[in-house]
Amino acid sequence: MKLRFFILNLFVFGIIINQTVCAQELSWTEAGNGIWKVTVGKPEDYNLLKAAGVKPQIASLQKMNKAEPLIAKKEIFARVQDGKTYLRFPLQKNEQIYGFGLNFQTIHQRGRILRLHTDHYSNTDNGRTHAPVPFFISSNGYGIFINSARYLDVYAGSAVRKDSKNPPKIQDRNTDKNWSARPYSDAVEILVPAEGVEFYVFSGPSPLEVVQRFNLFNGGGCLPPRWGLGFTQRVERLYNAEQVKNEAKEFAEQHFPLDFIGLEPGWQSKSYPCTFEWDNSRFPNPAQLVKELGQMGVKLNLWTNPYVSPEASIYPKIAPFTGSHTVWVGAVPDLLKPEARDILFSKFKKDHIDIGISGYKIDEVDGGDSYLWPDVATFPSGISAEQMRQTYGVLMQKYSTELFHQKNSRTYGLVRASNAGGVSFPYVIYNDNYSHQDFITGLINSGFSGVLWTPEVRASKTSEEWLRRMQTVCFSPMAMINAWASATKPWSFPDVADKVKEVALLRMQMMPYWYSEFAKYHFDGTPPFRAMNLETGFQMENRTEKVNSSLEENPYEEAVSKEIKDQYMAGEYLLVAPFFTGQTSRKVILPKGKWFDFYTGKFAGDGEVITVTSNLGNIPVYVKDGGIIPMMPPLLHAPKSGEKVDLEIRYYGQKNAKYRLYDDDGETFNYEKGDYSWREIVVEKQADGKYSGKITVPEKGKPNTIGKVSWKFMTIDNQAFLCFRTKQMLLKIAQLSTLIRLPLKITFSIYYFQKNHSRLSGF
Ligand code: GAL
Repeated sequence: MKLRFFILNLFVFGIIINQTVCAQELSWTEAGNGIWKVTVGKPEDYNLLKAAGVKPQIASLQKMNKAEPLIAKKEIFARVQDGKTYLRFPLQKNEQIYGFGLNFQTIHQRGRILRLHTDHYSNTDNGRTHAPVPFFISSNGYGIFINSARYLDVYAGSAVRKDSKNPPKIQDRNTDKNWSARPYSDAVEILVPAEGVEFYVFSGPSPLEVVQRFNLFNGGGCLPPRWGLGFTQRVERLYNAEQVKNEAKEFAEQHFPLDFIGLEPGWQSKSYPCTFEWDNSRFPNPAQLVKELGQMGVKLNLWTNPYVSPEASIYPKIAPFTGSHTVWVGAVPDLLKPEARDILFSKFKKDHIDIGISGYKIDEVDGGDSYLWPDVATFPSGISAEQMRQTYGVLMQKYSTELFHQKNSRTYGLVRASNAGGVSFPYVIYNDNYSHQDFITGLINSGFSGVLWTPEVRASKTSEEWLRRMQTVCFSPMAMINAWASATKPWSFPDVADKVKEVALLRMQMMPYWYSEFAKYHFDGTPPFRAMNLETGFQMENRTEKVNSSLEENPYEEAVSKEIKDQYMAGEYLLVAPFFTGQTSRKVILPKGKWFDFYTGKFAGDGEVITVTSNLGNIPVYVKDGGIIPMMPPLLHAPKSGEKVDLEIRYYGQKNAKYRLYDDDGETFNYEKGDYSWREIVVEKQADGKYSGKITVPEKGKPNTIGKVSWKFMTIDNQAFLCFRTKQMLLKIAQLSTLIRLPLKITFSIYYFQKNHSRLSGF
């Protein structure tokens, strides 16, 4: 007995000694309003923030509320052992966690095991993805970011320790039907393969504020040029200059919006590996092409990967500054060597940017183990192959953006890999997969990790699929067809061509809204496209406010406790609930607070699950009560610097409301020097029950691109419609009286004629 007691003591004590001996002191320093940097052991010199050269937006952070991190600080544990750093963060029972980069099939990350590793996503959310950002957000209102450029092993609440303070109940599988193969775990545990690391703790208190702080700390979201938010078409890979011009002409003839065209590999004399030089036979005079396209209001974007062909003119010079291994037999520039950067990006500048190229699509910087440099590769800078892989996409974004910065001309392009630190770079991620559903889950997750994602459209089996994909891409950060292999055009499916054009023109009409929402990404850190879980009225705490104890009677309670992968928020006020191929109806969860139909202004619901049908072929969009959506005419190109456009301000709902409308020249970086303005739009209910709107005058000396302002009170019209219905009933009664029948009929016929315009009853 004594011996057993002794052994038990030794065991328990042993654990304590083990932890005490190895537990690391955590040193906390404030790194910004509501942000703490915690250092463990000896962190490595190279990390994600350093790779990106991040400059936190301290002043914008300062404007946010003060808040303590809503995590039990004392329960955060770190240990350095065996050359690795082990981190543990406590989880509460009711907590859900989100983030860990660009996942495509899951939103809830609690219980998942991931290895964060930059790669092309291959249909499993296992941490291998285009942006494996080591940042998670808790529904309890804090976030944790591990500033390491290593592959990280994450047990996101999946493992149960013997010393757990909140151990799961032991259940007997023989008898207990509730036995679970995955018992409850009370911690996120992370293994960093280095003898120390720094991590950051972000406070909220709301999950959205956690994300805002993360984005602002990473330099603030990117602000694209206005033209970046228009429509873009990537042409077939071997198109020549004539075909490209014809493409632009055809868009104009079809009256379809087009702001930039993307060239795919065929513009280069050799690709895979690349020369970065124009192919003379297909593009005899690239500068002339850029000019002619420019006259048509269209810019040009170039595809490239960074792997240098031995036949490229820069090859002999750059070769000494490249890695030990090749990609498709092309040399890999060591972007941490100034010489390599100088040689590569001087070429980009001289041959592309100086002739007016507006941006790049930086391809294949994510991976594919079968072609990328292996982890045994070495680089002249001494940075490991692993760290290079985790940051290569960010480095390409950073140095290419600098070229445009030097020219004081904004860019907006595509990239296939990013990471923390890349938040402020004007690039949108895409990939080669094509599940429409996964693309939307990706769009939802992008907002947790400070990246942008486009559900690009390439081809479709049916016109229905084409329309559904085109609708979602027009409600995303980049409205794009990537026809590099398919040569499709927006009007490739004639039976839906009108609906496709309608949504592309709507995208253009909404430009003042999109642009203001991106400005909020930059100045406030609010992601323009994001999960429902970041929406007030939709969070975990609502689940406890039981209206009905039975879920069957209360589908809203049931719905919000599940992963929501098919609806998302677009900007401050819009909820988008796309249809996928084959769906004729779908459920939409409307968070608490009133919601109104975007197209008709009709009341749609409040904290409830509604069913919508697809009979009119539109993409369902709902507006939060008090929603103000500034719109412009359906132009075919984004307004140029200095061009004034008229504004139609739409108002939805019943609440008094405010909106901040952003304005600047839309093209340069002058906003960084204060050359921008916010104009406040206010809508208030007057004593007579009518609504009226005001917009503040433009600030003196600041850019002002707004012409005439008109107002459209979307929901008021509906109230009038309801009124009309009541009057119709009265009419019926009145018809009984022959005396007043005729004059009333005339009056209401006129009324009916005026009101019976474009009322939609479905989508
Ligand atoms: C792929 C890329 C495609 C297309 C293609 C051209 O890697 O994802 O969008 O650009 O290369 O070769």
